[in-house]
Amino acid sequence: MQKISVRSALSADQVGNQVKLEGWVRTRRDSKAGFSFIELNDGSCMGNIQVVADGNLANYESEVKKLSPGCSVRVLGEIVASQGKGQTTEVQASEVHVYGWADVETYPLQKKRHTMEKLREWAHLRTRTNTFGAVFRVRNCVSRSIHNFFQERGFLYVHTPIITASDCEGAGEMFKVTTLDLEAPPKADGKVDYTQDFFERPSFLTVSGQLEGEIFATSLGNVYTFGPTFRAENSNTSRHLAEFWMVEPEMAFVDLEGNMQVAEDFIKRIISDVLNDCGEDLQFFNDRIDDTVLSTLTSMADSEFLRVSYTDAIDILLKSGQKFDYKVEWGTDLQSEHERFLTEVHFKRPVILHDYPRSIKPFYMRCNEDGKTVRAMDVLAPKVGEIIGGSQREERLDVLEQRMQEQGLNPADYWWYLELRKYGTIPHSGFGLGLERILQFITGMGNIRDVIPFPRTPGSAEF
Ligand code: 4AD
Ligand code: MG
Repeated sequence: MQKISVRSALSADQVGNQVKLEGWVRTRRDSKAGFSFIELNDGSCMGNIQVVADGNLANYESEVKKLSPGCSVRVLGEIVASQGKGQTTEVQASEVHVYGWADVETYPLQKKRHTMEKLREWAHLRTRTNTFGAVFRVRNCVSRSIHNFFQERGFLYVHTPIITASDCEGAGEMFKVTTLDLEAPPKADGKVDYTQDFFERPSFLTVSGQLEGEIFATSLGNVYTFGPTFRAENSNTSRHLAEFWMVEPEMAFVDLEGNMQVAEDFIKRIISDVLNDCGEDLQFFNDRIDDTVLSTLTSMADSEFLRVSYTDAIDILLKSGQKFDYKVEWGTDLQSEHERFLTEVHFKRPVILHDYPRSIKPFYMRCNEDGKTVRAMDVLAPKVGEIIGGSQREERLDVLEQRMQEQGLNPADYWWYLELRKYGTIPHSGFGLGLERILQFITGMGNIRDVIPFPRTPGSAEF
């Protein structure tokens, strides 16, 4: 008998087929007429298939009538057209085999709804719920879409290192990687002697694959990395993780305008793929999580992203008459309340802000002639704020060295990065998209911890 998924079992063209299904019981309901309905889910889609288990089954009284949420079963039977409302097909079971029981007294996922916080404590079981099934199917679709977008455009997928000695963002928010005995580290001149450490120098988990991405872009052309990224920033917000996934394209001979265009095309492509492939899951988010999800996504797929300079954005905020907790002032970073005002109230759609003050952006961004701004861009989305950060890169050796010094970095630590400018330098650009940020935007999930399988945040690394 052919094994099929619940997803295919729900389609009308399966009617008449003898099939095998395997999954977990969501509910069981007994009819007075002496048979039972079992709602079976296997994660292949949001929906359950209804299994009709007849009283004649050998184990009907001994097992079928004891099935409860969370039990795992194998069902053999025929797919028939359903008499009931809300489903096209159901399975007339000829055999129900129980793989594993789930004690009704202790199994956490009973019918009652649980808070997201509670479900986070049960990250090993939350994937069995409708919400998290939908989140992770969408996450899969977005990941596929990311690769498809870049692969179809001829970008090379490169694997940048997880362990690194350089701080790309220059923000000092890195996790240290060491095999030294923290209780009794070797010392030289009163300081920890890292020459005795595994890598013979201080080493860290990467905060970005960009610098290494630039090596590949300045030799092989357009490339992208897509991998885990680590930041030891102690911010307990709904938009920050200590471990998240970032997609970073790096493009040769591309300026900031070209960079913004790719970012816009990229986001639109992800959204249109999700709209095409995850209709049922998006409908669920729209019904249960945030009723603006579908309208936002559809309108975004075909509206142009605005491009607004940081300076103009500051003007808009200053003239808005709006009260903000954080003061708006040229030269300071925008807070999430400012970003939200721009995207949700003022423009009512995603915007790309560009040309930020040089003092608030990393050393690698290309300096403008005005001496005050750099060729930076941030893509801001309603509700989530920044989903992409990127820039044109500083390709002039002398300017780059000067910028490093300005930011208190030692150019010698970046010698190989500087050599990319010394030998055959080129204009180039790139950006980073936070996978979890765009997932928050797509699903409407309020907390970033609920769009990654196992969130790592300050004080939390269970599972
Ligand atoms: O703006 P960021 O810091 O840019 C970079 O790291 C560049 N090196 C990227 C590049 O140009 N190649 O981070 C990029 C994106 C942010 O826009 C945000 O979506 C996400 O990464 N991000 C985080 N997501 C979750 N938790 C965090 N702590 C994040 N920090 C950044
Ligand atoms: Mg940023």
